[in-house]
Amino acid sequence: MLVEKYRQKEPFVYHPEIVILPTSYDVDKYAATKFIEQVRSKPNSVLTLPTGSTPEGMYGLLVQTHKESGLDLSQLTTFNLDEYWQLPSDHSASYASYMQRNLFQHVNIPVTQRHIPNSEAPDPNIEAAHYEEMLTKQQVDLAILGIGPGTTCHIGFNGRGSAIDSRTRYMPLDEQTLHVNAQSFPNPNEIPRGSITQGIGNILEAKKIMLLAKGVDKAWGIQRTLEGPKGSEAPASFLRFHPRVTFVLDQAAAQLLYKKTSGN
Ligand code: PGA
Repeated sequence: MLVEKYRQKEPFVYHPEIVILPTSYDVDKYAATKFIEQVRSKPNSVLTLPTGSTPEGMYGLLVQTHKESGLDLSQLTTFNLDEYWQLPSDHSASYASYMQRNLFQHVNIPVTQRHIPNSEAPDPNIEAAHYEEMLTKQQVDLAILGIGPGTTCHIGFNGRGSAIDSRTRYMPLDEQTLHVNAQSFPNPNEIPRGSITQGIGNILEAKKIMLLAKGVDKAWGIQRTLEGPKGSEAPASFLRFHPRVTFVLDQAAAQLLYKKTSGN
């Protein structure tokens, strides 16, 4: 398992691929192209998928390609990175609703091949263990991620303090994330305080990883992730231990990077 390799002291020094594009729309196009290439080269791919504002453009382009060019997604299996707990799954801010709105209702991925943690599960630990079991039966071909707001550097809902070998689990949401996510909840009483998320260890087991970041609000986190020390203080920095990770950034998100070509 890859995680075992990371426990050794720096035997593998990888240089993430960093793609810096002029605009956020270029990031959408690049991400959609990579997604489509993956599906065309291996129609029964297993993908880890993100939510949030960052991948909305990518999903829009995928839907367009499905409608206009008949992109077939019928053999795909998908695992979402995370979901709020506890929230009705049909709440407009749930990630189940997000995925319906942005992708699933428009394309032909069979419902039995899509996986999202159940935001209504009575016990989040049992639900996390169930999700972990389904996920680890598969080999994820490509994990697509965003990065958290501000100084969180989270991937999935793996906030500060998350270990490199963490697994699918219940995670409380940190204050910065709660603050940003509050925009999606007109009624503040509905804001979930926790989540069920794939762990860093799960994410690192994907064959390939692609992290997307757009806008100046992500610039600090991207600089910390790629040029700061690797560790739990910036969970996304653990991606630098992966041999095949690509950071796809617009110029705004990349503006604080000193080294523009290598993130080691
Ligand atoms: P965002 O969220 O795309 O809405 O910025 C990303 C994340 O929190 O992982």
